[in-house]
Amino acid sequence: MSKDFEIRSRSRSGISQLMDDLGKAMAGESRMRMLGGGNPAHIPAVQDALRAEMQRILDSPGQFELMVGNYDTPMGNQAFREALCTFFQNEFGWQLTPKHIVICNGSQSAFFALFNLLGGAEQQILLPLVPEYIGYADQGLKKNLFVARRPKIQLEKNQQFKYHVNFAQLEVDSKIGAICTSRPTNPTANVLTDQEIIGLDEVAQAYGIPFIIDNAYGTPFPNIIYTEAQPFWNSNTILSMSLSKFGLPAVRTGILVGDPSIMEAISEMNGVMGLAPGGIGPFLAKDLVISRAITQISSNIIQPFYKERMEAAIDAFYEFFGETTVRVHQPEGAMFLWLWFPDMKIKSYELYELLKKRGVLVVSGHYFFPGLDEDWPHKNQCIRITYSQSLDDVREAMEIIAEVVAENS
Ligand SMILES: Cc1ncc(COP(=O)(O)O)c(C=O)c1O
Repeated sequence: MSKDFEIRSRSRSGISQLMDDLGKAMAGESRMRMLGGGNPAHIPAVQDALRAEMQRILDSPGQFELMVGNYDTPMGNQAFREALCTFFQNEFGWQLTPKHIVICNGSQSAFFALFNLLGGAEQQILLPLVPEYIGYADQGLKKNLFVARRPKIQLEKNQQFKYHVNFAQLEVDSKIGAICTSRPTNPTANVLTDQEIIGLDEVAQAYGIPFIIDNAYGTPFPNIIYTEAQPFWNSNTILSMSLSKFGLPAVRTGILVGDPSIMEAISEMNGVMGLAPGGIGPFLAKDLVISRAITQISSNIIQPFYKERMEAAIDAFYEFFGETTVRVHQPEGAMFLWLWFPDMKIKSYELYELLKKRGVLVVSGHYFFPGLDEDWPHKNQCIRITYSQSLDDVREAMEIIAEVVAENS
């Protein structure tokens, strides 16, 4: 093992701590309110639709055998890629061919391949706005794969706030190999405005580098987005999508849409790392894409479900934090609330530890600043909570968080 790898694998990555906490909490005896992870909710109507689709496959002669009995190509299931291509053309008028689409084993693996390909030996990936998704943080095969910029913070009414890209500080140099942002953003629930997306696209085009948009929660599926936002793609964009938050995290299906030469390179990596991406997710979802049921389920079931959860979580926020200096990021999408405690005397990591002892599992905000080395108090003043699970847990947890924060402010 190389020294570098040894040191890095011994240091605790946020994502592995998160998964470890979840496992221990599930196995433990005391009650834990699980507001930490990003597992999508089990929504009965979505599960019924998926079960019906699986039943149709099982009942169609030869279909089950096709689903489980063949390797796909390293680009992923051809019929699914063709279906997606027609779907995106019809839905948004994007000029695509199946060569613009590659399937990966979850978008997490897609990012690993993309970042290390575009971050290359000398290059870096620019995160134009952090906080940003915890799962990117340790993906570099080399150190310092990411470089990030602080956002502008806009204070809103009702103890809310919103992060914006600070274009004045977005200088790009020849070391930057790609720009990447998640929209909606995990952890903050931010949705970058259409103007911000257009602005970032212009910067990427001006420097001749790809612009990666992580659309794991976005439109048209799973469409966990509560604000107006135009879907965005052009030939310089790499759009990442996933079946996970649609309700299929276990099939591990990620979808990249981008320049055919980059998609080809990703498929080579698929081949080397795993021969081919898994075929069960594409097989199960293909007809939902062809019939557009995937959009209907997303808009009519998934989006309203999470919106209702979000509103209940926000109500609980005002119930326990109203009239304090604590703020919440405008909840514009995804399944999280991002809380900011500007007057807290302890760091968010210490708060996380205290909360764990009180039966509340959250994620400390400090993990979500990959590539931002500078000292910035804000990095230690926030936590992420997930509202995809039980509403009672969210309300109880909010009360406990408010108590512990008050004791330490
Ligand atoms: C913003 C974002 N991107 C990517 C992923 C990876 O998802 P998956 O590998 O299940 O497609 C997640 C998972 O939570 C996420 O929140």
